[in-house]
Amino acid sequence: ASNPRCSRKQASHLKQKSFPRIMIALNKIKNFQSRLLNWYDNQKREMPWRNNRDPYRILVSEFMLQQTQVKTVIPYFKKWMESFPTTKKLASASESNVLKHWEGLGYYSRARNLLKSAIQIQRDFAGKVPNSLHEILKLPGVGRYTAGAVLSIAFDKRVPVLDGNVKRVLSRLMLLNENGNTQKSETRLWGTMERLLPEKDCGDFNQAFMDLGATVCLPKNPFCKECPLKQLCKARQSGKQKLFPPKKTAAKISKIQVSTGVIFKKGYVYIQKRKAEGLLGGLWEFPGGKMQTGETEKECLRREIREELGINIRIGEKIMTHHHSYTRFRVTLHVFQCQIHSGKFFPAECDEWKWVKPEELNQFPFPAANVKIIKFLTKNAN
Ligand code: ADE
Repeated sequence: ASNPRCSRKQASHLKQKSFPRIMIALNKIKNFQSRLLNWYDNQKREMPWRNNRDPYRILVSEFMLQQTQVKTVIPYFKKWMESFPTTKKLASASESNVLKHWEGLGYYSRARNLLKSAIQIQRDFAGKVPNSLHEILKLPGVGRYTAGAVLSIAFDKRVPVLDGNVKRVLSRLMLLNENGNTQKSETRLWGTMERLLPEKDCGDFNQAFMDLGATVCLPKNPFCKECPLKQLCKARQSGKQKLFPPKKTAAKISKIQVSTGVIFKKGYVYIQKRKAEGLLGGLWEFPGGKMQTGETEKECLRREIREELGINIRIGEKIMTHHHSYTRFRVTLHVFQCQIHSGKFFPAECDEWKWVKPEELNQFPFPAANVKIIKFLTKNAN
């Protein structure tokens, strides 16, 4: 049977342009496109945002996927769509409710930007996700990657994407000594993707590239035998898969010790909302902070709470020790029960504060490490 993917016409501009540095022969490009698209037709992964091409759904999924793997995103996406099925619904939601839906997904500025984008879409674009590059790039949190993904997937525009998976596939295919960690190599990789794009089905093409990187062209042990591009791949031909892409120098991961207090007063506990700007902005937390050199866990907690709330505390039992990994640091959280001892209660370093019943805690968005504390408190209360 004739294969629809093979009949795609080669882009005319590709025939004229020469590619000064990253070379790929024209006859190979066509072959490459049809192999990749055929593979995608047969092997594409089920994802709830692939059921239709509603641009808002694609926009939400791409915000969530910016720093997070597909399997983690799926349940968050489903819940999000139940609560905020349209930009209109999202635009009228409170930031706290939006952050609650993002709780545990990390990089919370994505959620705040998505809310701001929905408000802007309602206000400036009559409730429709913009379909041009210069307009979509005006939305907060939409950079070149998200713009490319939304425009190609939702509107079939001929715009490339470039994420970590795509960079790896490109690097191996063409034995590129590039890993996109300099501006120059990033620019060259974007340029390469642009040249590889077919005339139509760019959304499928981009997603195929990303899926291939996520499921076949894996960082450590790629499944080269199953790769639709194996005949074209220079790394495979020369057995150099393990050497490409070149390793980035590992970022130093620092370790931080933090003391945190759950202050009880007449059956209520104290929580505060972190300042809107900065790390974990807009999320709620228990008070506390980083241990300084020479301090004990309890000394740190006393000092932090005196600084943050103006009070001296009586420290009770240790509730738990919890380890949590962020991208650039590892936190060990020492959590204590405590009560107010003396001083004038005056929270000074947060946007908002509240005394709440322990069973109400799950109505507020907290960072993942604090969610662990809440689970522990509520489990042990029952
Ligand atoms: N990563 C980010 N967006 C994606 C998509 N639409 N398909 C597969 N992987 C992705």
